[in-house]
Amino acid sequence: MYHILASEQFSPQQLEGLFVKADAFRETDKNIGDRREVMVRHFGRLVVSMFYEASTRTKFSFGIAAKKLGISVEGTENASEFSSAAKGESIEDTVKVLNEYGIDGIILRTKEEGHANLAASVSKVMVINGGDGKGEHPTQAALDMYTIRNEFGRLDSHNVVIGGDLAHGRTARSLALLLSKYPNNKITFVSTPELQISEDIKAKLREHNTQYKETSEMFDALRDANVVYWTRLQLERLNKEEQLSLGQESFVLGAAALEVLPKEAIIMHPLPRQGELPVTTDDDPRARYFRQAGNGLYVRMAMLDDNMQDLA
Ligand code: CP
Repeated sequence: MYHILASEQFSPQQLEGLFVKADAFRETDKNIGDRREVMVRHFGRLVVSMFYEASTRTKFSFGIAAKKLGISVEGTENASEFSSAAKGESIEDTVKVLNEYGIDGIILRTKEEGHANLAASVSKVMVINGGDGKGEHPTQAALDMYTIRNEFGRLDSHNVVIGGDLAHGRTARSLALLLSKYPNNKITFVSTPELQISEDIKAKLREHNTQYKETSEMFDALRDANVVYWTRLQLERLNKEEQLSLGQESFVLGAAALEVLPKEAIIMHPLPRQGELPVTTDDDPRARYFRQAGNGLYVRMAMLDDNMQDLA
């Protein structure tokens, strides 16, 4: 399969292959001459970047990853407004037309869950899901796993606390699914009852015999964690009343929370952040979220390189 649509499509073996390649791309990034061979291989290739929803990390890291590989990138800053979606064109028609232009891939972020799959269903070239509504964010989950692997040297037997708006947060959903592919990972989901992780993810965790629990007690959960994955409220997906009912102050990963967190733990966050992750936490030696974002570049280079090769 050359599309990247859902985190579940990756086996642990495939992920490790990507991570080894990401490590190599990190090394060659120090010297442009070391990238010559891969750039020659991809010379003349072109991917289209269509983002119907705001993005900093996914859009720029994919764009930069492509260019570092010698792949050209075409696209719009805001596909909802600057593509014919503004005139009512469907995602399928847009993708069918792009397929006529001799491109090698489409990197897509959509407001609607399932639209990456719709796009892939009509595309002869690779479609990468860069986040589809509250559905999935598989490339983020892969870079999250890469971060955990690089910090601990393993992807099994972790006590992972995943907190925040889990009902609308696609990164949390995709990460939980990848963690379930490795033995002895335990997940504690921390949120309000209204914003807890949804049943479809829990069903998958049970299928994989991954232990999980749900709680609204952040402090209790943090005491046993070695990986903390904190996320923001997805305000763009909540109405005003829902926002007000959340009691966000109970979920701030600030000084008091850091007191109870074991010293060998790491703190991750897909970013962007709001009040749930104060800037004061950046000085904590356990904070890894900016390094995590940086890891995205190399994992996405590895993904583009692998999937472009599939099409060669
Ligand atoms: N983590 C993440 O997907 O960030 P962006 O929305 O900025 O791409």
